Amino acid sequence: EQIKVFAPATVANLSCGFDVLGCCLDSVGDEMLIKKNDLNKIRITKVSGQELPMEADQNVAGVAVKALLGEIDSKQGFDIEISKNIKPGSGIGSSAASSAGAVFAVNKILGEPFSSNQLISFAMQGELLASGNAHADNVAPALLGGFSLVRSYCPLEVLSLPVPPELKVVVLHPMIEIKTKDSRSIIKQNVSLKSAINQWGNLGALVSALYTEDYELLGRSLQDEIVEPVRSILIPYFQELKKLTAENGALGFGISGSGPSVYALCKGDQTALKVKNAMKEFYSDKSIDFDLHLSGIN
Ligand code: HSE
Repeated sequence: EQIKVFAPATVANLSCGFDVLGCCLDSVGDEMLIKKNDLNKIRITKVSGQELPMEADQNVAGVAVKALLGEIDSKQGFDIEISKNIKPGSGIGSSAASSAGAVFAVNKILGEPFSSNQLISFAMQGELLASGNAHADNVAPALLGGFSLVRSYCPLEVLSLPVPPELKVVVLHPMIEIKTKDSRSIIKQNVSLKSAINQWGNLGALVSALYTEDYELLGRSLQDEIVEPVRSILIPYFQELKKLTAENGALGFGISGSGPSVYALCKGDQTALKVKNAMKEFYSDKSIDFDLHLSGIN
């Protein structure tokens, strides 16, 4: 018995929702092939596209699957093949895609003992291995699709939010690697009340905008005065890109997850394409290689 899954990339934080908000890209992701084995062992049998640990306990997919099987005391073995398109350290949820894809597939093969929402906590064990922190804002949207909001970590409560129909996302990945672990270590541990007020005002408004399909409000809400000022220093030409995407009609712009990727949310394919082309032209004469994606959110 085997199953092939598309394991999607995700944009976490979306500026005002550090560690609690993320969305799922419908056209960027990895492929995984998962099959049962009779060895009572979790094996990472093949990884292509990137160098990743083949030892199950060192691989986020292996760790996430073990967490799931542990919960139901199952000794069932599985072979996991991962074909990576998402580069580790890119900021679009590479480890989350592997963790989420693996638990999703194993759950299917086992006859779905868990709901998609219940799978989030197993996939978070993969994130813990990858970044030293079990954040859910990539694995939740990878498993549930669309936008996810983490209302609470303890106990874990994740909500799905609606996706306005014309919403598109452009992601630029400058080819420098920033490890989530490192970019988490530079964030300040305390925020001022003034910053907190601005941040929760924006996050609340963003949720409202998703429900009311108010694209302008959505754009105004994509602000972050807590994490972005610190992390953006690591991202080449961040401020220039912010200005450029706004000039070309993007609703909002910010860091994707822990970077170095940046995202621009846009209304409609035409604007998204214009923003993508402007970013491409801007980055083409810089001495940094890059990837660009235009995707729907689903
Ligand atoms: N919320 C996490 C962070 C996402 O910003 O560190 C990592 O992709």
